[in-house]
Amino acid sequence: MNVLKLTNGREISYLNEVEVQIGIDENDGEEKYGSELKNVEKSDITVHKYEGGFKIWECTIDLCDFIEENPSFFAGKSVLELGCGAALPAVLTAIHGAKEIFVQDFNASVIEFFTLPNFESNEHVAKVEGAAMGWDEVPQKLNGRK
Ligand SMILES: C[S@@+](CC[C@H](N)C(=O)[O-])C[C@H]1O[C@@H](n2cnc3c(N)ncnc32)[C@H](O)[C@@H]1O
Repeated sequence: MNVLKLTNGREISYLNEVEVQIGIDENDGEEKYGSELKNVEKSDITVHKYEGGFKIWECTIDLCDFIEENPSFFAGKSVLELGCGAALPAVLTAIHGAKEIFVQDFNASVIEFFTLPNFESNEHVAKVEGAAMGWDEVPQKLNGRK
């Protein structure tokens, strides 16, 4: 397990590369998502195939620090994280009492083998839903939700 340590010392757990690979191996990930996964090793991003979701990007740390400075804002709220990758900001809102969370990424392999397991690696009671889709499809998917 990897740990992201925030400026105030709070730790958020997330899967390391070996744990992600075990998930892929045990759930036929290569068969289901071969075309996405074969691009992961080659570069940070392969446009419209693999878009960087298995990495933690620096902006995540800044966003988590911001959430940590404003924890009461998230209690009881519904949270949407676009282009989530590891979804550590959304995980942190769950830790701070968010009620329900919708996380979205371009790559289905990222959602199944990285995003959703990271919610299971941290204690919270939020209802979590994840989906692979383009940003342009999100409004229709969430139509009517508040
Ligand atoms: C730079 S990464 C950031 C990942 C994560 N939020 C972080 O900060 O560590 C950008 C993320 O946005 C997703 N993304 C890029 N274009 C997208 C699109 N058109 N629709 C949905 N997701 C997209 C990618 O799959 C990738 O996970």
